[in-house]
Amino acid sequence: MGVVGTDGGLNVRMSVIGTGYLGAVHAAVMAHLGHDVLGVDIDLARIDALTHGRPPFYEPEFADLLTAMVGTGRLRFSTSLKEAAQFADVHFLCVGTPQTAGSYAADLGPLTAVVDQMASLLGAKDLVVGKSTVPVGTAAQVSLRLRRPDGGSPIVMWNPEFLREGFAVADTLEPDRIVVGGQDPEGRRRLREIYAPMIAAGAGYIETDYETAELVKVAANSFLATKISFINAMAEVCEATGADVVTLADAIGADARIGSEFLRAGAGFGGGCLPKDIRAFIARADELGTGPSVKFLREIDAINTRARERVVAVASAMLGGEVAGRRIGVLGATFKPDSDDVRDSPALDVAARLHAAGAVVCIHDPRGLESAREAKPQLEYTYDVDKAFEDSDLVVHLTEWGDYRNLDVARLAAVTAQPVLLDARNALNVDAWRAGGWTVRSLGRPRR
Ligand code: UDX
Repeated sequence: MGVVGTDGGLNVRMSVIGTGYLGAVHAAVMAHLGHDVLGVDIDLARIDALTHGRPPFYEPEFADLLTAMVGTGRLRFSTSLKEAAQFADVHFLCVGTPQTAGSYAADLGPLTAVVDQMASLLGAKDLVVGKSTVPVGTAAQVSLRLRRPDGGSPIVMWNPEFLREGFAVADTLEPDRIVVGGQDPEGRRRLREIYAPMIAAGAGYIETDYETAELVKVAANSFLATKISFINAMAEVCEATGADVVTLADAIGADARIGSEFLRAGAGFGGGCLPKDIRAFIARADELGTGPSVKFLREIDAINTRARERVVAVASAMLGGEVAGRRIGVLGATFKPDSDDVRDSPALDVAARLHAAGAVVCIHDPRGLESAREAKPQLEYTYDVDKAFEDSDLVVHLTEWGDYRNLDVARLAAVTAQPVLLDARNALNVDAWRAGGWTVRSLGRPRR
C-alpha cells in the first residue's frame, strides 16, 4: 500500500463519538486526512486532556499526531452531542461495547444511550457510521432507533475497525481493508469520499450489507483467538511430550496457508477485544439458534483460561510447590507490549493468582502501572525493573516488552535470592539467560 496523503483538503465535517483507543485515534487520523473533526465523549477529564493535546492513554505515535492535529484547528473536542449535531453531518459511533457483568453478552447500553440522544438531533442530511464492535443485527436496530416519523431519517452505515493497540495509528492510517456495511447509495458515496486517500493508497475496499460487515469483525477476532488457542493447546501437548512449540509454530507457519502470525504460545490472549468479542459472539449465536455452530469458541475461551492457569501451575512447580511467602518478580502488567491497557490482562491475572496463593508479588511494567494499580490495588508495583528481581525466588516474564530483551541478566542474577526464570511468552533469548546464570523454563518447550 502507498503512503496515505496528509491534509488533502477534503474538509468533510464529522463528529467522532466515543474517544477511547478507537475513537480518539480515528478522530486524529480523520483530521490528518484533512477533515474537520469534533471528538465527543461524556468523560470531561478525557475531553480536557485531548483538547490540550494530552493523550488519555499510551499509544505509540498518537501523542505527536494528536498535538499536531489539535494545532491545525481541524481537531477539537467537546462533551456535547448537540454541538456534534450542529457542527457535522457525518457522525462516527466509536462507543465501547464491553462485556456485560455476569453474562457473555455485549453491553449495548452506552451505545444505545448515544443513539437515543442523537435521534432527536439528526435528520435526513446526516450520515451515522457505526464503528463499534457489535453483535450482528445491531446496525439494523440502530437504524430503526434513528428513524423519524416524518421520514427525514439519517442514513446508517456500519464500518468496523480492525486496529490493534500498539499499532493503532499505523493501522488506522493504512488499513489493509476497509469494510462498509449498508446498501444506501448516498451513504456509500460519502464514505468513499471520506476514505478517498486510503483507497487511493491501495487499501482494500469492501462494500456489503450490515450483517456481513458486523460479522466480518467478530469473525476476524474469533479466527485470531482460535489461532492463539490452537498454538497454546499444542504447547500443552508439547509440554507433555518434550516437543518444542516454538519450532513447531515456525514449521507450521512456514506453510502460507497457515501463516506464521498469531502463533506465539504463552499466557494467552487478553485485552478489551478478543476475549469479550468471542464471548459476545457465543451469546449472540445462542440467541440466533446457531449456538452449536460456534460452540468451538467456548473451547477457545477455555484453552485461553487454562493458559493462565498453566503459568500459575508451572510457577508453583518451579518453587517446589510452595508459593506462600515466596517472592515472585513479574515482568509486565499490560495485556500486550506498547500499550498501557490492562483490561483482561493475562499478566495481571497471573500475578493476582500468585498473590492469592500467598506469594509476595512485585510487578514491573514500563507503561501500565497506573491502570494496573487501579485494577488490582492489592499488588506491589515498581517502576524500577531491578526491584522486581531483588530477593526474588522466581521471575515470571508475562508481557513481552522490548525493554526485557536488553536486561543485564548476569548482574540481575546476582540480586535475586535464586536466579530462576519462567518465560511465559516465549519471547526472551533463553540461551543468553542461561549463560547469565539463570535456570530457565519456557511454556511448551523442552526442559533442561
Ligand atoms: C485485536 C485484533 O488484533 C484487532 O484486529 C482488533 O481490532 C482488536 O482486537 P488487540 O486487542 O489490540 O487487537 O491485540 P492483539 O495484537 O490482537 O493481541 C491480543 C492478545 O493476544 C494479546 O494479549 C497478545 O499478547 C495475545 N497474542 C497475540 C498471543 O498470545 N499470541 C500471539 O501469537 C498473538
